[in-house]
Amino acid sequence: MKTIIEPFRVKVVEPIKMTTRAEREKYLQEAAYNLFLLRAENVIIDLLTDSGTAAMSAAQWSASIRGDESYAGSPSFYRFEETVRDIFGFKHVVPAHQGRAAERILFSTMCRRGSVVPNNTHFDTTRANIEYLGAEAVDLPVPEFYQPAVIHPFKGNMDAQALIDLIERVGADRIPLVMLTVTNNSGGGQPVSMANIREVKSICARYWLPLYLDACRFAENACFIKLREPGYANQSVKEIAREMFSHADGCTMSAKKDGLANIGGFLCTNDDQLAQQEKDLLILTEGFPTYGGLAGRDLEAIAVGLEEVLHEDYLQYRFASIRYLGEHIASAGVPIVQPPGGHAIYIDAHAMLPHIPLNQYPGQALAIELYREAGIRSCEIGSVMHAEKDPVTGEEIPAPMELVRLAIPHRVYTQSHIDYVIEAILDVYERRDSIPGVRIVSQPKFLRHFTARFEPIEFVGGPGVSEGLTAEVVLPDGRADATREVLLS
Ligand code: F0G
Repeated sequence: MKTIIEPFRVKVVEPIKMTTRAEREKYLQEAAYNLFLLRAENVIIDLLTDSGTAAMSAAQWSASIRGDESYAGSPSFYRFEETVRDIFGFKHVVPAHQGRAAERILFSTMCRRGSVVPNNTHFDTTRANIEYLGAEAVDLPVPEFYQPAVIHPFKGNMDAQALIDLIERVGADRIPLVMLTVTNNSGGGQPVSMANIREVKSICARYWLPLYLDACRFAENACFIKLREPGYANQSVKEIAREMFSHADGCTMSAKKDGLANIGGFLCTNDDQLAQQEKDLLILTEGFPTYGGLAGRDLEAIAVGLEEVLHEDYLQYRFASIRYLGEHIASAGVPIVQPPGGHAIYIDAHAMLPHIPLNQYPGQALAIELYREAGIRSCEIGSVMHAEKDPVTGEEIPAPMELVRLAIPHRVYTQSHIDYVIEAILDVYERRDSIPGVRIVSQPKFLRHFTARFEPIEFVGGPGVSEGLTAEVVLPDGRADATREVLLS
C-alpha cells in the first residue's frame, strides 16, 4: 500500500506554544477541570472539535476578498445560494450564522409544546433547541450504535421499526418532522446508508411527515456510502450527496464542518410557506435573508468550501489519517468506537477506566488526563454532555456510552502531530488504573458541559478497587464525602 499523503502544502503557519506538565496542572485548576474553559494558546494539539477549526484554502481566502458586504441582495449571497442549490438541491436556502441558529429557526417554526422529534441521534444543540420549545427529542439509533466494539458499516442508521413504533404510539400529528443526522456525531461519526435514508423517507411518506437531514458532515457521509454501500463505488461523492438530499424535504447545516469555513450555516426547505415563516423569523434574530448573520466574505468562503470538501483525494486522505490514529491506539488495546468515524476517533472511556463509576464521569476524567499528559484537548461525549435526569426522582441518568472524542480539524495537523497524539494516549493507557474520577462542583441549567466546574476525586484504597464494591469518596482537601458512597459500575 502506498502512503496516502496530505493533498495540500502549507502556506501560512501558526506557532504551537509548548507547555510543561506543571504548567498544564495549573491551567487545569484555573479552568476548573473543564477543557472548554482553557485558553486555547495553552493547548498543544486541539482536538476539541472539527467545527470552525478548518484551515481555509488559498481559493477560499481569495473568494473572501471578493465578498460583497451589501446589506441586501449581495452577489456573494447569490454565489452561495447557487452552490448550495447545486449540491443540496432544495428550493429555498436560508443563511444563518451557524448550525444551531438554523436549528432554532427550523424548530421554532415547526414545533410546539408537546411535539415529538425523532432523529437517529440528536446532537446536543439540536436536542436543547427542541427541548427549549417544550418539545421532546427522541433518539432512535440501530442497536449496534450503543455497542462501541461492534463493527457495522452503517452504525449511524436509524432503527426504522422503532420509528414506526414511535409514530404509532404518539400519533403522527404530534410529529412535525423526522430528522437524520449525517454522519451521526454523538456516537462515533458513523454514517447513515442510502438504503436507510430511503427507508426512513418511505416511512415518513406513509404518515405524511417531512424528512430533514442534519447535514453537518454530509460529504463524509457520502464518501462512506461510496466506499461501503453496494452500487455506489462508481459514483462521485457529489452525485451521492445529491441523491442523499433528493430523499429529504429540507436540511439544517453547519458550514463550520463540511463547509470548511470558520463560521456559517444555513437551512433549506422545499416548502414555500415554511420558507417564508423562516425568513420572517430570520430577520428578527439573524439578519436579512441575503446574509443571515454572516458577512459577504463568509458566504464566499462557504461556497468554495462546499465544493472543496467534495474532492475525493481530500476525503481519502482525511479518512486515512483518522483511521491511522484509530488503528494504532486500538491495536495497543485502547477501546475505541469501531469502526473509526469520518471526523473523529472516540475512545470508550467506560471500557478503558472500569474502576471509575459512571457518576464520577470516566469520559471527563480521561479528557483531563490527556490534557495533563500532553496538552491534548479532547471532548467528553458521555454523562456530562448527556445531562439527563429522571423526571420523577431528579437523579442523573448515565449516558448510554461514556466517550472521549478526538475530533480532527480539517487540513490543520500533519502526520507527526497524529503520531504525538498516539504516543500520549498509549502513555495514559499504560497507567490507566491510577486515573481518578471527577465530581461536578457547579453547573448551569442547559448545555452544562460548556461551563460546569469539576474537581478530581481520590478513592480510599487507591486504584484497582474491584468491581461491584462500594468505595468511599475523598475530596482533594482530604474530606471524606459520605454522600457520595457509590456502587462501582
Ligand atoms: N448538528 C451536529 C451533528 C453537530 O455536530 C453540530 C455541531 C451542530 C448540529 C451545531 O452546529 O456548532 O454550527 O451551531 N457540532 C460541533 C461539534 C460543535 O463539536 O461536534 P453549530
